Amino acid sequence: MRILVLGSGGREHALVEALSRSPHRPTLYAMPGNPGMAALAELVPGDMMEVSFVSSVCLARSIDLVVIGPEGPLAAGIADVLRNQGISVFGPGADGARLETSKDYAKQFMQQYDIPTAGYQTVTSYEEMLQAYRLPIVIKADGLAGGKGVYIPQSKPEYDRLAGDLFIKHSLGKSADRVLLEELLIGPEISFFYLLNGTDYLYVGNARDHKRAFDGDQGPNTGGMGAFTPVELTSQDEDEIDAIIQKTVNGLQSEGIDYRGVLFIGCMKTTEGLKVLEYNVRFGDPETQALQERWNDQLTDWLESAATGKPFAEAKLADKAAVCLVVCSKGYPGNILSDQDIELNDLSGVKLFHAGTARRNNRLVNQGGRVFDLVASADHIEQACRLVYDKAVQIQFNGCWYRHDIGR
Ligand code: AMP
Ligand code: GLY
Repeated sequence: MRILVLGSGGREHALVEALSRSPHRPTLYAMPGNPGMAALAELVPGDMMEVSFVSSVCLARSIDLVVIGPEGPLAAGIADVLRNQGISVFGPGADGARLETSKDYAKQFMQQYDIPTAGYQTVTSYEEMLQAYRLPIVIKADGLAGGKGVYIPQSKPEYDRLAGDLFIKHSLGKSADRVLLEELLIGPEISFFYLLNGTDYLYVGNARDHKRAFDGDQGPNTGGMGAFTPVELTSQDEDEIDAIIQKTVNGLQSEGIDYRGVLFIGCMKTTEGLKVLEYNVRFGDPETQALQERWNDQLTDWLESAATGKPFAEAKLADKAAVCLVVCSKGYPGNILSDQDIELNDLSGVKLFHAGTARRNNRLVNQGGRVFDLVASADHIEQACRLVYDKAVQIQFNGCWYRHDIGR
């Protein structure tokens, strides 16, 4: 079996690693991939957003399965084009991807199918947003924001400034024409991961990530500074998430969406029970790097079933805990100090995934904000934490840093 993974981050490195464990010994390709994957997969340089290029690579390499890592190509409908050419793809089409790409659509979907979520209102102009002022509130621009398009203002001046930034200055990423104002939910967050094959779903684990930059959940939001799995669930949590996924899958079928990929349900555990914060149509990053520790050798079979609509083999999740620590460049999540030489010493007993590295003249250097994902597993989270922090000092480059409280 020949599998092409699209993407270049730590999540895709972890997927490649987990796919490589299959007894089917798949031949793996990664586009564009990263230096860490080179030992497991042939790297195919090029632009994964260029669908004609991707399909020519599939043809030339006789690819049996394409696994789409990030949301960008999913939103662009690359899965649809490849499927129309008869290629099996893990990843929803543009219709399913709307659950992530449009927060407004996701909210309507949740409302229609009775899925618990924060109350909300949509505003479409500066004036309307000013009129809707109240605190506390969560402000979200519609559209893809890489997990960073969420604002929680603390005062009226801050609220008004955000309204101006969104509707007038357009200084917060893509120009906003729709903004969601959401009820502020309070409680711990849990990420749940399900694979869907068009008719059925398979639970492949949960995790918690740490989104804020600094220890104690302080500082700006980031793409994720670390994660651990599993999060302990009560039987009530289990019943609630079972109902949420069942209603979601029924909803997708009612909408005529043939969803083949992963659905990542981000929830908050409130005093009123689990509520959905968001859907993502791709694996979580860095949750996946921790989760893969619990997938044994089944990932290749699961993704193939999801892509082709075959029944899923039962998921046998390893009964252990895992922690992923994200190692960052100086300056992240702002402007970073890049191109620093990296020294990797004894990393026995842990796994290292590359997220933002490059090879320059045979030197390994950092080139992204999040550079490595260091993963340890053990019987208990505490042991996995100890292991990951024992080994983190073995990664050295100028400006390297990480949070000290992941999983604690
Ligand atoms: P989203 O992009 O919708 O996942 O939001 C990113 C992060 O913002 C979430 O993981 C939460 O930490 C936070 N967030 C989003 N919506 C809410 C809400 N309604 N109440 C509290 N926090 C939220
Ligand atoms: N770790 C959060 C995300 O992947 O969106």
